[in-house]
Amino acid sequence: MSFHPIEQAPGRLNRSELAVPGSQPQMFEKAAQSDVDVIFLDLEDAVAPDEKAQARKNIIKALNEVDWNTKTMSVRINGLDTHYMYRDVVDILEQGGDRLDLFMIPKVGTAADVYAVDMLATQVEDAMGLTKRVGFEHIIETALGMQNVNDIAAASKRNESLHFGVADYAASMRARTTVIGGVNPHYSVLTDADDAGNRDVHWGDMWHSALTNMVVAARANGLRPIDGPFGDFSDPEGYKAAAYRAAVLGCEGKWAIHPSQIALANEVMSPSEAEVEKANRILVAMAEAEAAGKGAVSLDGRLIDYASIRQAEVLVEKAKQIAA
Ligand code: GLV
Ligand code: MG
Repeated sequence: MSFHPIEQAPGRLNRSELAVPGSQPQMFEKAAQSDVDVIFLDLEDAVAPDEKAQARKNIIKALNEVDWNTKTMSVRINGLDTHYMYRDVVDILEQGGDRLDLFMIPKVGTAADVYAVDMLATQVEDAMGLTKRVGFEHIIETALGMQNVNDIAAASKRNESLHFGVADYAASMRARTTVIGGVNPHYSVLTDADDAGNRDVHWGDMWHSALTNMVVAARANGLRPIDGPFGDFSDPEGYKAAAYRAAVLGCEGKWAIHPSQIALANEVMSPSEAEVEKANRILVAMAEAEAAGKGAVSLDGRLIDYASIRQAEVLVEKAKQIAA
């Protein structure tokens, strides 16, 4: 290991994260009773400008009055380029009560953006005498944010997670995309012709590199990498394919922009029984190997070593968290 320590963000379960517009209070109860891990009440892009003030009031009331049970509660504030943002931070912190866990900061572009919100939040919390510090989730969804993702990830002790905001990212990059978080047939490889003249088209994932960059920045700073929205909620198979791609790369969770996507995210982002069983067998086999003075052994015809222990431990720990 490097001599550089990586402090891990609080170990919250974040398999699914439901977006709920602050301007739609009739949706709050249903969200509270769902199986989602994290809820973000939105003040940003799902709320029209002339509804912002009322949405803020709705969220404050709901944070105080709705029984959110064990959910992690977040509020997506407005961007730093708007005049709504300071009042989002001040009013929600001053009046939202102790049920608030996180602020989600959209379109974060530089470490200074994080610093600015941190400074404001600190002033309000200190003035209120609050000991609980609100954590930060950052949406990486602009070219600038992606360029500075490492600095953003390291910019505050409040940081907990990075989210890939694929919709705004596509807009910022002027990428050619059809459905939010989906694939584009033009991002594909055309194979050379075989003897019969046939050619295959292999679709690629146009988001692979961007998502990977964000996952690296998150993990290098002890934060949770979370995949963002998948727009077509009538396509559960497409959603699951996107979620699996993100999970394979190391993401811990994915957004749900519709309640029907919560179960899909929870399923994909939870280790399967077979995976947990295998991980437990690896831990037993490695403990036996160590007792016999060996650093590597074979299990089911494959090499396992100390790296296998670390992977297995992560999996078993996640399974315990879910069971709890
Ligand atoms: C989320 O905010 C996105 O733009 O994808
Ligand atoms: Mg966005």
